[in-house]
Amino acid sequence: MYWNDINASDEEVNALAKYLDVNDDGDICEEDFLAWYQEAATTVASETNAVRQALLTRRTVNNFDKTPVPDIVLRNAIEAAIAAPNHKLTEPWRFIQLGQETISKIAELNAAEIAKKDPEKGAKKKARWENIPGWCVVTCKKSDDELQQEEDLAAVACAIQNFQLSMWADGVGVKWTSGPITRSPEFSELCGIDTETEKHVGTLWYGFASGGLAQLMDQGPNRKKSVDDVLSSLP
Ligand SMILES: Cc1cc2nc3c(=O)[nH]c(=O)nc-3n(C[C@H](O)[C@H](O)[C@H](O)COP(=O)(O)O)c2cc1C
Repeated sequence: MYWNDINASDEEVNALAKYLDVNDDGDICEEDFLAWYQEAATTVASETNAVRQALLTRRTVNNFDKTPVPDIVLRNAIEAAIAAPNHKLTEPWRFIQLGQETISKIAELNAAEIAKKDPEKGAKKKARWENIPGWCVVTCKKSDDELQQEEDLAAVACAIQNFQLSMWADGVGVKWTSGPITRSPEFSELCGIDTETEKHVGTLWYGFASGGLAQLMDQGPNRKKSVDDVLSSLP
């Protein structure tokens, strides 16, 4: 490779040569190359580590503060979600961002159900749900083909995990909820879900975690089974 193979100005080439010439002898020798290579290898290793770190430290967030989450965080999360693996590229997902008016109606619906048994608990739940700053309902297209349906649901689950990890990377927590209210016809109607053609997969609550994400990261995944418990190897 020659310097003039590089698409850069003379000034940029000089700066690069100076950067690579670690021993400052005016030449890029093996010693300089090895120093650069070591640095590049360390950068790649730390980026790989960052992905594993996100996978291992992400936790479900249960308590959010009221600070609204900028829309760009949601858009980033959906961009990551729709990059999920998807057999036959059916793109079966839909994401519905709920505004305060719809959130309040859903909170009321849920509270009314709970209040049938315990009115005080119903009122508390209503206030709690109304204060969750971000709501995104995720659906999957329905299919008459059983295998297709199974694979589409798997793809939407992957998409939701990408969504959660993207938000986590942006410092925002998520809780995937699937309680009884989300299966009610009233919920579908409020969210504009046509249950003939699509199925609710998850309602994602998102927001800044009360007390921050760091305390949750320290908790660890809290799984009972180890790798050895779940891995079997065949010859
Ligand atoms: C399909 C699905 C549905 C879930 N529904 C609920 C729910 O309704 N309520 C809830 O508290 N958590 C729900 N969760 C979150 C799990 O409870 C949570 O992932 C689990 O406790 C492990 O915690 P972690 O995400 O911090 O590792 C759901 C997760 C999945 C994958």
